[in-house]
Amino acid sequence: MKRVLYPGSFDPITNGHLDIVRRASKMFDEVIVGVLVNAQKSPMFDEDERVKLINEAIKDLNNVKVIKFSGLLVDYVAKENITAIVKGLRAISDFEMELQMASMNKKLNDDAETIFMMTATEYSYLSSSLVKEVFRFGGEIAGLVPDNVYKYMHEKNKP
Ligand code: PNS
Repeated sequence: MKRVLYPGSFDPITNGHLDIVRRASKMFDEVIVGVLVNAQKSPMFDEDERVKLINEAIKDLNNVKVIKFSGLLVDYVAKENITAIVKGLRAISDFEMELQMASMNKKLNDDAETIFMMTATEYSYLSSSLVKEVFRFGGEIAGLVPDNVYKYMHEKNKP
């Protein structure tokens, strides 16, 4: 069975992420969306909120599951017998950091193969950070995040 891990902060999941999950779910037997800690970011949503939001967004996909993991990515890969790590690439600017992470993961665990999927063009400008910034300043984020995330962000920020 080919199991792919799609790791990220998903703070929150965007329609760009969801598009990668959907496409990967057609290519692999199982997709595991891994909510992991990025030590360089301070999240808006706690891990349980992020897992819940992803679970709601992927509920129509029956070969996708969501997990949270607070250790090294390669430890999860080894423990769960993961075939490959999948990451989305939006632009050349993503490549540098992604190459660095893929190379470090390979150095730590030679079995940790990373494959890249090109982000759909309509989402090439989209990031969780930009969504949060636009939202904080009252901008419209409809169409950028799944409907459940849109609803949750607006409800959570009600006075
Ligand atoms: O969505 P992000 O923030 O770009 O995802 C980055 C993430 C969470 C995949 C990366 O920070 C990660 O793998 N964190 C787990 C800890 C780890 O293994 N760090 C070393 C990566 S080379």
